[in-house]
Amino acid sequence: MSRSTQQTIVRGRFLDIQALVTQADQIAQNVRYIEDGVMIIEDGKICHLGTWQDTQSMLAQDAQIEHYPEQLIIPGFIDTHIHYPQTEMVGAYGEQLLSWLNTYTFPTELQFKDPDYAAKIAQFFLQELLKNGTTTALVFCTVHPESVDALFEAAEALQMRLIAGKVLMDRHAPDGLCDTAESAYSESKALIEKWHGKGRALYAITPRFAPTSTPEQLEKAGQLKQEYPDVYVHTHLSENKDEIAWVKSLFPEQKGYLDVYHHYGLTGERSVFAHCVHLEDAEWQCMHETDSAIAFCPTSNLFLGSGLFPLKKTWEKQVKVGLGTDIGAGTSFSQLQTLNEAYKVQQLQGDKLSAFESFYHATLGGAKALNLDDKLGNFELGKEADFVVLDLNATALQQLRQSNAKSLEDALFALFTMGDDRNVDATYVYGQKVYRKNHQ
Ligand code: GUN
Ligand code: ZN
Repeated sequence: MSRSTQQTIVRGRFLDIQALVTQADQIAQNVRYIEDGVMIIEDGKICHLGTWQDTQSMLAQDAQIEHYPEQLIIPGFIDTHIHYPQTEMVGAYGEQLLSWLNTYTFPTELQFKDPDYAAKIAQFFLQELLKNGTTTALVFCTVHPESVDALFEAAEALQMRLIAGKVLMDRHAPDGLCDTAESAYSESKALIEKWHGKGRALYAITPRFAPTSTPEQLEKAGQLKQEYPDVYVHTHLSENKDEIAWVKSLFPEQKGYLDVYHHYGLTGERSVFAHCVHLEDAEWQCMHETDSAIAFCPTSNLFLGSGLFPLKKTWEKQVKVGLGTDIGAGTSFSQLQTLNEAYKVQQLQGDKLSAFESFYHATLGGAKALNLDDKLGNFELGKEADFVVLDLNATALQQLRQSNAKSLEDALFALFTMGDDRNVDATYVYGQKVYRKNHQ
């Protein structure tokens, strides 16, 4: 090892999905569990994972080992849809999507013109992600370019792999939140040039949703995507029935909601559509054919009364899906809480969501949805070392339940049902410990 190499050695119980899977029933056979394992990280990347027994002799006598004997070490959670400016408005009472936006969301987002305010909330937001074990997120900022700079600057200091972008919105919103087709283009372009590929930052062209963009603005968004094909597209789709009817009335010449985005060149392997609760058959087909991804946001869909997302269809139709908290319509930053609600959403539709399938969606499935499975999502050698150290026994009730766990799968399922940020003991980003419970 050369002297300039930065090395971290972590010992504990490791769990990941070892291979990329395309069907729900392939997951269990691809789960890797190492009861007493050692991971060696060099310069942010995983360069070894093996049993303690096999690895011990490779380590220097004086090697510093961070040992978590009881905890479970898993890949960092991936949140495929979240709004950082909405951190302060979680739990806003009484409205469904369209009135919720006008009553609560737009007034909150107006504050992000102020770079100091944006910086303050960006810091808080990233700490909250890390506290919940989330190491990568696809994030909505606001229409203000200052809000994007604030988030990327804060993420850069932590070396987090974050995807984010400036919201595009040139109608049906307050003046202070509207750009134009032209300024949406030029400001996004400048932000792409400044941030996309800088360290671990990646950029997403972010039209809020079809109703708040004119056809001219969507055209410009499509032009930008053509000019920068490796940036992401991030927007909302088919969340709420009134929203869908509104889109159909605003874009009568398109075949449906998704067709609006497709028409402007905004579908594709780096396009992520939040919600997709009420997709029609032709839209599932288009999602599949264009290799677009869905962000499933159960706490939000329940909170806003939007509907029940048919998760099983994503396997049937072969459409990529990740989990999103959708803060602030969603009610928790925790992917454990998000899985808890995801399970119930499936129960209400007569479907089951197994522990290992849940685990897949929160880790490798999320990475796949973000087209980052070559870098994130499991402990394959060479991947970026983002991981979470989980305590399965964070409360008295969890202790009692875990003492009755019949298997690893049962223990995981109980964790996903009962867990939250209290279960996160430590979070590592790029091999560095960036969060330790009770040590902040
Ligand atoms: N659709 C358009 N904007 C939003 C938003 O901020 N949150 C959610 N959940 N849906 C939206
Ligand atoms: Zn959203």
